[in-house]
Amino acid sequence: MCGIIGYTGKNKASTVLFDSLLNLEYRGYDSAGVAVIDDNKNINTVKTVNRVQSLIQLSENGEKIQGKTGIGHTRWATHGSPDIKNAHPHLSEKFAVVHNGIIENYSLIKKELIKDGFVFKSETDTEVVPFLLEKNYKVSFLESVIKTVQKLSGSFALVILCKDEPDTLIAVKKFSPLIIGFGENENFAASDITAVSNYTQKIAYLDDGEIAVIKPDGIKVYSIEGKLVCKEIKTVSRESLSIDKNGYEHFMLKEIYEQPQAFTKTAEHYLKKGDLSFEASGLDEVIRKIEKIHIVACGSAYHAGLAAKFAFEELSGIEVNVEIASEYRYSFPFISDKTLVIAVSQSGETADTIAALKLAKEKGAYTVAVVNVKNSTISRMCDSVFYTLAGSEIAVATTKGYTTQLCVLSLFALYIARKRNRIETQQLHKFIEEIKYVPLKMTEVLYMAEDIKNLAYKTVINSSVFFIGRNTDYAISQEASLKLKEISYIHSESYAAGELKHGTISLIEEGTTVFAVCCNKDLEDKMISNIKEVRARGAFVISVAQVGDKNIGGISDKIFYLPRTNRLFSPLIHIVFFQLLSYYIALKKDCDIDKPRNLAKSVTVE
Ligand code: F6R
Repeated sequence: MCGIIGYTGKNKASTVLFDSLLNLEYRGYDSAGVAVIDDNKNINTVKTVNRVQSLIQLSENGEKIQGKTGIGHTRWATHGSPDIKNAHPHLSEKFAVVHNGIIENYSLIKKELIKDGFVFKSETDTEVVPFLLEKNYKVSFLESVIKTVQKLSGSFALVILCKDEPDTLIAVKKFSPLIIGFGENENFAASDITAVSNYTQKIAYLDDGEIAVIKPDGIKVYSIEGKLVCKEIKTVSRESLSIDKNGYEHFMLKEIYEQPQAFTKTAEHYLKKGDLSFEASGLDEVIRKIEKIHIVACGSAYHAGLAAKFAFEELSGIEVNVEIASEYRYSFPFISDKTLVIAVSQSGETADTIAALKLAKEKGAYTVAVVNVKNSTISRMCDSVFYTLAGSEIAVATTKGYTTQLCVLSLFALYIARKRNRIETQQLHKFIEEIKYVPLKMTEVLYMAEDIKNLAYKTVINSSVFFIGRNTDYAISQEASLKLKEISYIHSESYAAGELKHGTISLIEEGTTVFAVCCNKDLEDKMISNIKEVRARGAFVISVAQVGDKNIGGISDKIFYLPRTNRLFSPLIHIVFFQLLSYYIALKKDCDIDKPRNLAKSVTVE
């Protein structure tokens, strides 16, 4: 979603703003802009519908926007097309505003403002903010912000400049994430910590309804009623700020290769002295009484839930519903105090997952977060938090986020099974051993990169690709298909192999590429029939099977053998093959792999 940076301090604002916006590029955006106040109290702006780099050129390296206080923005369009007039910052006579989120009542406010004589230049919801600020500006910048914010509904993170107070930024948070950063004679506001990573490790998270008044020599935070609030300043680790490609061509490739290490770190955290450890107050009691589990998430995090469902149900004997958060929030889920709701999210800021969690909490469920970003909204909302230790994930398409989510979910499933006495100690240790081998087996798949690259470069793709599988292989197919389409823009469908003949098989024609995931020996015969069905209709079938499972090779056009593992944990290892495949297919097509079109890293709007 939109990225925000605000700076006031001793240095040239444009340099800091450009640098920070470059760090925010990973979030995905379609336009960008900055506004800086100069010594004569003029606000100068520069905007682009290209990359941040072009802002630097347009402003002649910042020469055209001199000043020490400014705001910057990368926009992911919601209201209005991605063009210059809709790019942020939005201006009125005295104010400049950058915004992340959606102002839900903007059309009503806009009508009133038009009656008052304000002339709108953009199609955005944001533009009502500078005009409302202008209308409410009687006493001071802060007073005008408080009055304005009280009129707005929806979700927003705003950072605002005012001509009359040229060394001040005001930042406001309501439902969209916003942090403040503390430097020496310089301070910051930003949508996430990566934006300020080159300048400070000292940050504070604003809470909903808080307003920060930021000056070079200090920051004061107020409640919406104007009362001073004391904030805890945290020092974030260098590691969580690290956004270096380390020599890889893309962040996605780097993150794919980081998986064995990220997995080990995450698994070791929950396997203290070889035993499972999920410490949280009241959790064990909840585990003993729960009757069902709901896993709520979006996109790949939802796919991690689908893959983990098998382990939860088979090991712990509890019914599991895996729910798309944007559907769950508008349905009537049966939730009680005997329901455990697990929210899975890399960013911890996904708006639909947050809304689903709110619903679950209102209905009395015990909530658990499986998130990557520390202190994110979801982590703060839940009764217990189990972090994935993936480190920062920069590529929009998740890879290590997904596998570490699945790591925590798999171990948590084992933990529940043990607490409910559903598993023998010997069996438990067998599973734990199996999990300990995952990083090694992931590495074996990474060693196949050259072959996977060759496959990607040689595979002829007509209009669409199909991924088929059964059981956990179907869960792998779903994530594999999403990876391919989001970064290579090739249409693909994932299908439960047995379901294909109920309609979708009509799409198979001469030369259609079908990837068959056959890593489940128990269902091998069924997959053989499904492969034969599509080949009989002209499909070109590329199969993956486990080492030693010879029967699939003979009936496929191409076969790749992946490391053997227990079916319940196979998505953890075998997905790596498809991550690499998608990466190389996108590379061959020269796609913008780390920042695919139309996508955002953290989906903070509904
Ligand atoms: C796909 C992808 C998305 C996210 C989804 C949820 O590669 O990254 O589908 O998984 O937007 O995001 P989080 O996990 O941050 O809630």
